[in-house]
This record gives sequence, structure tokens and C-alpha cells, in this order.
Amino acid sequence: MTELSDILKARIADTGPISMFEYMDMALAHPKFGYYQNTDPFGKNGDFITAPEISQMFGELIGLWCVDCWIKLGTPSHFHLMELGPGNGTLMCDALRSSALAPDFLNAAKIHMVESSERLANIQQKNLSSYAVQWHSEIPKFEDGPIIVIANEFFDALPIQQFERHEGKWFERLITVEDNFFSYTTAEKPTETDLFKFSENTVFEEESIAEVNPLAREIVSFLATIISEQGGAALCIDYGPMESALGDSFQAVQNHKFVDALQTPGSADLTAHVDFKTLSDIAKNLGCSSLPLSTQGRFLERLGIEARFWQLSKNADAYQKEKIANDMKRLISTQEMGTLFKALSFYSGMQEPPSGFGE
Ligand SMILES: C[S@@+](CC[C@H](N)C(=O)[O-])C[C@H]1O[C@@H](n2cnc3c(N)ncnc32)[C@H](O)[C@@H]1O
Repeated sequence: MTELSDILKARIADTGPISMFEYMDMALAHPKFGYYQNTDPFGKNGDFITAPEISQMFGELIGLWCVDCWIKLGTPSHFHLMELGPGNGTLMCDALRSSALAPDFLNAAKIHMVESSERLANIQQKNLSSYAVQWHSEIPKFEDGPIIVIANEFFDALPIQQFERHEGKWFERLITVEDNFFSYTTAEKPTETDLFKFSENTVFEEESIAEVNPLAREIVSFLATIISEQGGAALCIDYGPMESALGDSFQAVQNHKFVDALQTPGSADLTAHVDFKTLSDIAKNLGCSSLPLSTQGRFLERLGIEARFWQLSKNADAYQKEKIANDMKRLISTQEMGTLFKALSFYSGMQEPPSGFGE
């Protein structure tokens, strides 16, 4: 049991069952005992590994994707380049290195990192010390200029709500304490909701579960409003299905293994699938364009990961060559991250759509 368990249990004893949103929010982002504030999550000795931590090719290609967007925006002399939830800052480091091929891009960019964990923001500051970067704990308001936004495995780390179907109605799933252990329960009264947009033929069986990520919806609305008014593009890479789907995707990972999400709040990474379809519909309704989702594998292939692989391999020894090849495979193979992870972009004010999507 963790210190955060005691805080959550005291709260439940005081005011009754809490929403999954509150549980997940406290477990991940509590300023003292939250997962991202307390642990070193990334890599072999951490709990999980993300694409930029697997290979420099990931961030480098995204850097070039940003340069391409900037060119299609008409090479503005000032624009905002923002990353949401940057972890160790590896993606932005690699992206800025590759985008140095276009010095005017770097000169025009005002770089912003949005990070809620003070501990991770400190690590990012060390890793990006040679660049002029502004840090924010929340997405800032941008008065002027286009924005280019990147978010890798950010939306899956935001707290969700779950609803359970009973007798044709949706009841919010809550977390309570039974025999000193956290367990699931449901609200006594149903929630009147038009939050879900499943396809017409979806069958709602008894005990079906539907998920909502309210912050993801809010953030995409905020960004899409700016992008449709001031121009720009957003790239969100995360894991989730192609179409909105029913089901419980709430999961906890510790030390590279799945664990019980209610066992040790604050010491395991908690995530849920991203509902890309809903997010892209929100962006389109606010005036942005959005191309059909791409798998991560095809997105990276379209951006030229194989060419970058050959270039990196040229001067590598046999051991390094094998490692670079394995890393690429991990990013694009359908058996690994290639299909599970998807790329979504929404954009406005561009002469052509962003690269990496399409046939
Ligand atoms: C799974 S990690 C992804 C890290 C990085 N993008 C990568 O690919 O390696 C999630 C990141 O989002 C940050 N984060 C989570 N919730 C946030 C919020 N509401 N606002 C800003 N950052 C947040 C975490 O602190 C962490 O840096």
C-alpha cells in the first residue's frame, strides 16, 4: 500500500465512492505522491518505454514533419512549437536536432513544453538546456501566430470516466473501499449522457462499458479553436482503436508488466485507449481538417524511416546495425507498436495536408 492509498481511502471514508477520473488523476498527477512526480517511468529500469526512448529516428522524423508543416503554412517568421507531456524531453531534443536542417524554422519557432510533473520538467530543462524553451504546467493561451503541436503518449495518460450499461441506462463506475481494498462500484443513479458517439449498429449489451476522456476532449477543442483561427497543425500519436469502441481499456503497468490498477495507486502507470474518432470529429466541427488516422508504422514509413535507418547504419558497427534495425522494427512492425499505435493530425491554413497520411 502507498501513502496515496491512505489519502484516497480517507477521502472515500469521508465523502463516499470517488469517480475513476478522480482516482486516476490523483494516482498519476498528485503533486507529492503522483506517479509522474515520484517515479522514473521510462526505459529498461523503469515501467515502460515510449517510441522516442526506443530510437532517435522517431523524434528526428517528427522534427522534419514539423518543418514540412511550417513550409506548408507559408514559412511564417514567428510560430509556436509546443509539445504536450514531453516525458524526458527526448522527442523534442531529437526533433530540434533534425529540424536544424532548416535554420529559418528554428529561428522562427517559439518553443513551449507543457508538463504537469515538476520532476519531469526539471529533467527536460537539463536535456534541452541549449535551446530557448518556455515551460508551462498548463497549455498557454496563444494570442498570435500559427501553432504546431506534438503529443506522443500524452492523451492516454489523462484521467478517464467509465460508464456501465444496466437496463438501457448508463451508470458511472466509481471506486470504493471494501475490506480495506479498493474495488469498483457504480453510481446509484444513472447519468443522462450524450457523450458517446458509437456507430449506429453498436449493440449495447448489459454491463457494456463506455469510456470518456473529458480532458482530451477539452484540450483538442482548445487547440482546434486556435488552429482554425490562427493556422497550424497538431500531431497526436497514441494507442487506441480506429473507431470509437465499447470496452474497458483502463490498465496499469509496472516494471514492464500489467498489474492490478487498484493495487498501488501512485506506483504504477495508468492509461486508457484514446478515442481518436471523437477527437478528430471535435477538431473538424471547430473548422480544422483532419485526414483519416494512420497507424504509427505506416506514418513513420511515409516519413522515410527506412531511408533514415540506412543512413544511420552506414557508419555503424555490426552490433549497432542490429540494434538500429531492431529499434525500427519495434516502432513499425505490426506485431509491435506499428499497428496498435495510431497517428492523428488536425490542421488549418496549410497549402497542403501534413505529410505521413494517406494511401
Ligand atoms: C506516457 S508519458 C509520455 C512521455 C513522452 N511524450 C514520451 O513519448 O516519451 C506522459 C507525459 O505526460 C505528462 N502529463 C500527464 N498528464 C499531464 C497534464 N495534464 N498536463 C501536462 N502533462 C501531463 C507526464 O508527466 C508525462 O511527461
